Amino acid sequence: MSEAKTMQAVVCHEFGPLTDLKIEETAIPSIKDNEVLIDVEAAGVNFPDALIVQGLYQLQPDTPFTPGCEVAGVVVKTGSKVSHLTPGQRVVGVCQIGGYAEQVAINAAQVLPLPDFINVEEAAALITAHATAHHALKQRANLQSGETLVVTGAAGGTGLAAVQIGKAMGARVIAVCSSEEKLALARQHGADEGINYTQEDLKESVKKLTNGNGADVCYECVGGDSFDAMSRAMGWGGRLLVVGFASGKIPKLPVNLTLVKGYAVVGVFWGVFTQKSPQVFAQNMQELMQWYQQEKVKVVIDKQFSLTDAAQALQYMTDRKVMGKVILKP
Ligand SMILES: NC(=O)c1ccc[n+]([C@@H]2O[C@H](COP(=O)([O-])OP(=O)(O)OC[C@H]3O[C@@H](n4cnc5c(N)ncnc54)[C@H](OP(=O)(O)O)[C@@H]3O)[C@@H](O)[C@H]2O)c1
Repeated sequence: MSEAKTMQAVVCHEFGPLTDLKIEETAIPSIKDNEVLIDVEAAGVNFPDALIVQGLYQLQPDTPFTPGCEVAGVVVKTGSKVSHLTPGQRVVGVCQIGGYAEQVAINAAQVLPLPDFINVEEAAALITAHATAHHALKQRANLQSGETLVVTGAAGGTGLAAVQIGKAMGARVIAVCSSEEKLALARQHGADEGINYTQEDLKESVKKLTNGNGADVCYECVGGDSFDAMSRAMGWGGRLLVVGFASGKIPKLPVNLTLVKGYAVVGVFWGVFTQKSPQVFAQNMQELMQWYQQEKVKVVIDKQFSLTDAAQALQYMTDRKVMGKVILKP
């Protein structure tokens, strides 16, 4: 039987509206010595994918390109310098682009074998959201047991992951969401307190829930007004994590606030961390998988879409409807 040479992939021809994405027959990627080719069985959908397609992300790939930054599936082929993976092995992989396709070539350092206890759908949904929260709270914030952690966007992909991981690390977690339904989900996943920031003043509510002390750590992935309020609700020695700007507004910080309150503003860029520190990334993933097995972290798949419906999946996310994660099934 001759080997297939083409595959289905979602293609972005130029930066613009999500509805311009096309599903096309494209060439199967060739692999370099340090890469593996993966048969994609599930691809995670993440907010940065929508930003990249619209040309709003910090990284702008050459067009045309295929979006998609995390996949789970089976290794088809390995490059000559790859020794820790073999064809037929179940894996998860992270890539900046290329995941919304039937096959993708990924640097082997960012591909990890998948334990038997997790299926491909949950694995594809677990990586970016949970691993970002894990890296942010562990390496960037050095979150300690007993500290108070505030999580904004707490029912979204990475926010809900931060709620679970914050609890796993022993913190008291305050979830911040825009509806009671979203707060209920965050509570179900371990949040001790909830603030509906469409109804309550965020800064005052955090102060009230911390006896006037402010937050030790904030996992801030919304930006705009939410970041502004949290920059005024941090406690002495706190760490305000800059994770994302889902509101579309990149805030500006009056730095005198950090001086007066003695807190640090700490940037988080998980994708670059996986490339610069592949060994720490691999250790983190081991711990994350252990927590998954122990049910300390759980994957909530809100919806599954087919590859042909990638634009709808991204729209569902930018419409602020996602509760947990969305995945694509090629
Ligand atoms: N730094 C990193 O390495 C890294 C890694 C992954 C993701 N991120 C960033 O983290 C942010 C969240 O990503 P995610 O995958 O968790 O997204 P998500 O599942 O869509 O969650 C985003 C949350 O933000 C809130 N939000 C407020 N205004 C919004 C708006 N105008 N549109 C959409 N959501 C809005 C929503 O919660 P409420 O309705 O409750 O306000 C929503 O649940 C994004 O900015 C993403 O780029 C950063």
